[in-house]
Amino acid sequence: MNTKAWSLDSWRELPIKQQPEYKNVGMLKDVEKSLKSLPPLASPGESRALKRELADAAYGKAFLLQGGDCAESFAEFSEDNLRSFFRVLLQMTMALMYGASCPVVKVGRIAGQFAKPRSDNFEKKDGKELPAYRGDMINAMEFDPEGRQADPERLLRAYYQGAATLNFLRTLARGGYASLKQINNWNVEFAKASTQGKRFEDLIARINECVGFIQACRLPLDDVEEFSEASFFTSHEALLLGYESALTRFDETDGKWYAASAHMLWIGDRTRSPDEAHVEFLRGIANPVGVKVGPSMTVDNLLKLIDILNPDNEAGRLTLISRMGATKIGEMLPPLIRAVKESGKIVVWSCDPMHGNTIKSPNGYKTRKFTDILTEVRQFFAIHKAEGTHAGGVHFEMTGQDVTECLGGAQAISEINLSDRYHTHCDPRLNASQSLELAFLIAETLKKQKA
Ligand code: PEP
Ligand code: CO
Repeated sequence: MNTKAWSLDSWRELPIKQQPEYKNVGMLKDVEKSLKSLPPLASPGESRALKRELADAAYGKAFLLQGGDCAESFAEFSEDNLRSFFRVLLQMTMALMYGASCPVVKVGRIAGQFAKPRSDNFEKKDGKELPAYRGDMINAMEFDPEGRQADPERLLRAYYQGAATLNFLRTLARGGYASLKQINNWNVEFAKASTQGKRFEDLIARINECVGFIQACRLPLDDVEEFSEASFFTSHEALLLGYESALTRFDETDGKWYAASAHMLWIGDRTRSPDEAHVEFLRGIANPVGVKVGPSMTVDNLLKLIDILNPDNEAGRLTLISRMGATKIGEMLPPLIRAVKESGKIVVWSCDPMHGNTIKSPNGYKTRKFTDILTEVRQFFAIHKAEGTHAGGVHFEMTGQDVTECLGGAQAISEINLSDRYHTHCDPRLNASQSLELAFLIAETLKKQKA
């Protein structure tokens, strides 16, 4: 373990993975300098509020719903897309809150989720080889020699898009749109016709009955924050540490450093080595942080990571995001859960049923089967029940649009449908209907566990 003092730049002395090679290093330095003087996006006070909500999830008193794009893009940035994302997240929240009588901690993979780790540094096409696409914050998706060069200006564009995104989501969360009185307006046309849309209509009717009853009791509904607005937080993978450290600020109120690019940051499965740069950077910021836990994680490494990232065993500080895959979770997850439990460490256990279930369809699309996703989530709950621990949340790649990227679900998307609306810039996402279907399933499971 690195026992040296932490600083904004201490990660620079350690080995680091998954960073782009910038040809114009002078320009990169200039951009990082500008970012240092630009306003923060997330505030320390909001990050502390998220930590308190996550502490409840660690103790099984709340449930974390974290979701959004695999990779945000400059091309798909629009009011419509943001509104439909937020609407589906609220619908999922209602399904969970009503179905499981459990507060939901809402965290988007959004307003900063622009940089991607890649398995290969290069991509080959028609006999040509170019640097891999690493997300819009770094280079262009088009297979073009100039576009694939890492361009520092893109860091600024991602920052400004993150700022506008967060601003709009804050207005939706706090400006009345998220009020329970608006619930009738959340069902989008295409979802209304589907099985999930009809299920949501039933849910609305039941919630409206409850609201009517509360009003009849003359309880001051408008004074209760949960009825009139939603708390909503942002998160992304902390991959580009130059960007993250330039956007980290010191908070005078508690004397700690906070990443200001998002409320919560996580480290990916490929960059979570305890002795390397990403873990070093994350240990020094006071935000809630996450670590992806894939099949190669050992008990020793996990306990080491917990000690480094949460030395004070603070509830809500650390979320472990398991992403084993439907066929591996049964074998890989229980020993890790047991070791963490025995060590007395308090963590939120969350399930990412996406990244261990990616396949290539015969017609060449990167996809995921809805049934594999369901299987992994179901097993995650069953394992926690058997171990006497809390299934604290889920982590999804999803969108509010009616895309055809994952196979199956009530719409029965098949391989030939994939090409219809396959828009993702990286991994396949659940569409609005599939996301809601999953939320209903989780609500039922949570309800059964409580019974
Ligand atoms: C991701 O969340 O998009 C991702 C790359 O995940 P992982 O690090 O778990 O592979
Ligand atoms: Co992904």
